Amino acid sequence: MTEALIILKTAREIEILREANRIVAQILQKLGEVVAPGITTGELDKIACAMIKNAGGKPAFKGYRMSNRRPYPACICSSVNEQVVHGIPGSRILREGDVVGVDVGVTYKGFVGDAARTYPVGTISEEAQRLLRVTKESLYKGIEQAQAGNRLQQISAAVQGHVESHGYSVVRDFVGHGVGRKMHEPPQIPNFAGAGWNPRLQPGMVLALEPMVNEGSWRIKLLDDEWTAITADGKLSAHFEHSIAVTENGPYILSEL
Ligand code: MF3
Ligand code: CO
Repeated sequence: MTEALIILKTAREIEILREANRIVAQILQKLGEVVAPGITTGELDKIACAMIKNAGGKPAFKGYRMSNRRPYPACICSSVNEQVVHGIPGSRILREGDVVGVDVGVTYKGFVGDAARTYPVGTISEEAQRLLRVTKESLYKGIEQAQAGNRLQQISAAVQGHVESHGYSVVRDFVGHGVGRKMHEPPQIPNFAGAGWNPRLQPGMVLALEPMVNEGSWRIKLLDDEWTAITADGKLSAHFEHSIAVTENGPYILSEL
């Protein structure tokens, strides 16, 4: 997709997107509390599925189809260590020193909430702590640029600049995206500048910004499960995502408590 219509949302629609994303934020918070050595990624998924149901929502990821891969089978993505994104939850037991990226998507009243965080499992190395901190900071650098009148790639450049100034790389094969009634709407939002379309941002745009940051090379590989992306060099990766609305008064983060 290069040029396509960006669907602007009304104030009312943005409030529904806020509700959908608040559910996502509550689930991420809960999962952050239970992440500890000994828990499996499948148990995290079970908790998320139950919370989505209780809130009156639907899991946005379950059954989702990307290219001709098999439908995504779970409520969350759980990506451990060198796994970049789209890790499938299951019997894997989290161990002290791991990092786990948790991505949650909820459809509520017809709109999709989408956000992710990477959590430490017990005590993690200084290097891993630094990667998590810089990745999260890069997301907020991007959000700062989500101002009406700015161009889209000012977001990309801010993320990339922060990441690369710390010696890390941004993943190129996956991008952020517009979000609304569908999880993936135009525009695509790369975490690096200079690629493709560069529209001006307008009030009413709702965007999911999601830097994926690698300790080493940006190159990734896909596992045989058709979903899990891992770093090609086996080094650590981290992922943070917020859904935000561009407003007259600046960026409105939808996916916080
Ligand atoms: N936040 C991710 C994205 O926007 C999660 C999608 S998982 C999937 O692509 F399984 F639904 F693809
Ligand atoms: Co997303």
